[in-house]
Amino acid sequence: MTTLENDAPTLIDAPTTHPRMLAWVAETAALTTPDRVVWIDGSAQQHQSLIDDLVAAGTFVKLAKKKDSYWCASDPTDVARVEDRTFICSVDEADCGPTNNWMDPGEMRAVMKDLYRGCMKGRTMYVIPFVMGHLEAEKPMFGVEITDSPYVVVSMNVMAKTGTRVLEKMGETADYVPAMHSIGAPLKPGQVDVAWPCNDTKYIVQFPESREIQSFGSGYGGNALLGKKCYSLRIASVMARDEGWLAEHMLILKLTSPEGTVKYIAAAFPSACGKTNLAMLEPTIPGWKVETLGDDIAWMRFGDDGRLWATNPENGLFGVAPGTGWDTNPNAMRAIDAGGSVFTNVALTDDGDIWWEGMTPSPPAHLTDWHGNDWTPESGTLSSHPNSRFCTPIRNCPILADEYDDPRGVPISAILFGGRRKTTIPLVTESRDWTHGTFMGATLSSETTAAATGAVGVVRRDPMAMLPFIGYHAGDYFQHWIDVAKGADADKLPKIFYVNWFRRDDEGGFLWPGYGENGRVLKWVVDRLEGRVAAVETPIGHVPAPGSLDVSGLSLTDDQLAQAVRVDVDEWKAEIPLIQEWFDKIGDKTPITLLTELDGLKARLGL
Ligand code: PEP
Ligand code: NA
Ligand code: MN
Repeated sequence: MTTLENDAPTLIDAPTTHPRMLAWVAETAALTTPDRVVWIDGSAQQHQSLIDDLVAAGTFVKLAKKKDSYWCASDPTDVARVEDRTFICSVDEADCGPTNNWMDPGEMRAVMKDLYRGCMKGRTMYVIPFVMGHLEAEKPMFGVEITDSPYVVVSMNVMAKTGTRVLEKMGETADYVPAMHSIGAPLKPGQVDVAWPCNDTKYIVQFPESREIQSFGSGYGGNALLGKKCYSLRIASVMARDEGWLAEHMLILKLTSPEGTVKYIAAAFPSACGKTNLAMLEPTIPGWKVETLGDDIAWMRFGDDGRLWATNPENGLFGVAPGTGWDTNPNAMRAIDAGGSVFTNVALTDDGDIWWEGMTPSPPAHLTDWHGNDWTPESGTLSSHPNSRFCTPIRNCPILADEYDDPRGVPISAILFGGRRKTTIPLVTESRDWTHGTFMGATLSSETTAAATGAVGVVRRDPMAMLPFIGYHAGDYFQHWIDVAKGADADKLPKIFYVNWFRRDDEGGFLWPGYGENGRVLKWVVDRLEGRVAAVETPIGHVPAPGSLDVSGLSLTDDQLAQAVRVDVDEWKAEIPLIQEWFDKIGDKTPITLLTELDGLKARLGL
């Protein structure tokens, strides 16, 4: 621990001699004026002592019923990513694009500097050296997060590899992403702290050219755990553009058939649309097995063998809690039962456990809700915030694939794009080729969820499920998807599929049962890869031929199945102006190849 005197702190106990890092930490301490600086060493002892502090401060409640696990509630205004406060500050506005907020980097630096001045007064500044992905990767992806939130430190210790082993690997010269975070709640002498300090003013800022992150005002999830969305998606997507790879909002799963054939599948769905559930699926069809590699982020590079290889840069799961239950995702339930979790904005049971909507078929008779109020099933309110989360070490996942540990990753055979759509989008559609698959991804749409602030249930385009996470111009991003595959051997490229588990019938009921039954769609995907089953060519791509989707043992009428996979030309005709409007919004940078795809689709629909 280093005590700072006036505005010229000396970091006498710094556990590194990396000159650039030391200068940045000293400069940040001088600007933010914390009472002390603590370097995160990644040890179990330090992790526990931070947790003990959080318990003493009233932020954490230790759970009697879950090993080494804690409950906490955020400020009721600080519950989700704030997309309208998220900025891509590229040097040239044209590199930001119409889907991101932009501000001139110089102007933004001045705004942030003003906010950061004195912002850590009365608090501890933590320095978290971390690596996303493997420490033994060819080029490890280092970062250093500075934060004044012990909640962020504890969460980052779960979500990334942190501490001394990372510093040692960095030596004195390694490049890293400086990731600056403050909750923006300085304390006056004697001022009593609150359980979840934060600031009404929030900024989540990425500087793509200099690979820097600055965040202010929020302590929550993707706004504050800067290794996750800010680094591993927004900054990494820019690195990937420059270096010829892909940083994507995708789960990675390993699928083994009854014959023992293994396929690796990556799948992109918007936040709160079931990535964690699919990543941990228990297929209902006999003999099929899913193992997990990741539930949120995939970094994918072409290997020397011409195949696309994927790794998960994360060390933990930061899953949406509501809807996670023993019937819907037993493996997630086993993971959180294994201990070492932090639960945010869920309800507390009277005997020191947690509960949320959808965990069990019927709720307990009494709970303490996420606001700290008494709650009963008669309360008429949700016990847990819809975006409440569990933060759990990925090692807890009982079906974690062994390959998770392999720095090379796994070769991807299929990519799924999916959204939450009541109409129009069939259960599964196979693209004709990579360009058509890129068109499917680029025009992906979904109804909004509680994972971001704002209205829920509104249909919006969410390209590759990356709308909130593309660190540059969306048109350039689409072009990058086309370009990365250019040198590749077409036979070795993953096949791209578009799925929708959420289509409804006329009465509003789901047409497809979802969850473990989605294994049947995975089987169809593998059967298509192997050329074993037939598909029907339609204007939008190939959908399952009658009898090709294994529905044995499923109580689904022929009519329901037909409706689930139906391509309704009128619905698609209504979709075309929305796609047109979307490409108009992207503007001149919309790749010509995608406009050609749209023209082809229109022609096939008879437009
Ligand atoms: C988050 O927003 O806190 C987060 C981790 O991302 P997502 O909403 O995609 O789950
Ligand atoms: Na969120
Ligand atoms: Mn996500």
